[in-house]
Amino acid sequence: MSDSKLVVVAGATGYLGGHVVEALHRQGFRVRALARRREKLREVESFCDEVFVGEATELQTLDGLFHGAFAGFSSIGIRHFRRRPTFREVDLAANLNLVEQAELAGTARFVFVSVLRGDQLRGVSPLIDAREQVVDRLHTSPMDSCILRPTGFFNDMSEYLTMSRRGTAWIIGSDATRLNPIHGADLGELTASVLQAEPMPAERNVGGPDILSQAEIVRLCAQALQREVRTRRVPGWVLRGVGAVLAPLNPNASALAKMFALLAAGDAVGEPIGKHHLRDHFAALVEANR
Ligand SMILES: NC(=O)c1ccc[n+]([C@@H]2O[C@H](COP(=O)([O-])OP(=O)(O)OC[C@H]3O[C@@H](n4cnc5c(N)ncnc54)[C@H](OP(=O)(O)O)[C@@H]3O)[C@@H](O)[C@H]2O)c1
Repeated sequence: MSDSKLVVVAGATGYLGGHVVEALHRQGFRVRALARRREKLREVESFCDEVFVGEATELQTLDGLFHGAFAGFSSIGIRHFRRRPTFREVDLAANLNLVEQAELAGTARFVFVSVLRGDQLRGVSPLIDAREQVVDRLHTSPMDSCILRPTGFFNDMSEYLTMSRRGTAWIIGSDATRLNPIHGADLGELTASVLQAEPMPAERNVGGPDILSQAEIVRLCAQALQREVRTRRVPGWVLRGVGAVLAPLNPNASALAKMFALLAAGDAVGEPIGKHHLRDHFAALVEANR
């Protein structure tokens, strides 16, 4: 028997997964969080009903993870430049392990996080390809699945603030490229709502409420810091070149460089949702750092 309120959250120790845990808890779901090490959940643990300690990359450690659960969610993936583990081991293989375990347990629904328009961006970066291969697998599954395809998260936008503190912010491609970054809490709310939707939507390409050019994002940083910030441009071809050179040496760094180069290829704007504004996020970061 599955508990219609029990959701397994993989990625709970990360930025998005932590917000998903909190949103599900607030909306009356019961949360079973997967963590490699319990202490990495930090304050998010107070929103978890159960903690399952396991390694998503090691199938044999996942026995029972989905037992009795009505749904699963995964935002597991790498965002580091180290050589190991590779995105193939984490973004692809670990997520396939989770899908397989959820199916075996008779889980009804699965929500997976890919990237904005990832289905149209196959071949651009092997990291996108890896996530889309998980999407392909979900499409052959008896589980109902929903693919969340968000644009950049607020945690990644903090990089603009870090650069701005030093006085120079690097912009990829054109100043005018627009995106609508989204807060993890808004994606958490979306996850809770799709899990309750009848029928569950097959996918959502989403972003935050403010559509901003890269130059406007740097201006928000300058306002929050109350200082002048210069901008410098790095053309997309440079990042694609770096990505190509790094491919045999460090597949993770290569794949990430090719992802960043996407910002030079045009706007990254999803359906605007949510209520969190980047201006407030930068102001809060600056305040916390005083
Ligand atoms: N950030 C963005 O702007 C953005 C935009 C669109 C889509 N996305 C997608 O959303 C995903 C999640 O983003 P995020 O910002 O929440 O990332 P994050 O904060 O780095 O969280 C990543 C999660 O994956 C887990 N993980 C990493 N390596 C692992 C491994 N070897 N074995 C098991 N678990 C592992 C982490 O667990 P540990 O804490 O144990 O390391 C963590 O829970 C990304 O990977 C990306 O595909 C991100």
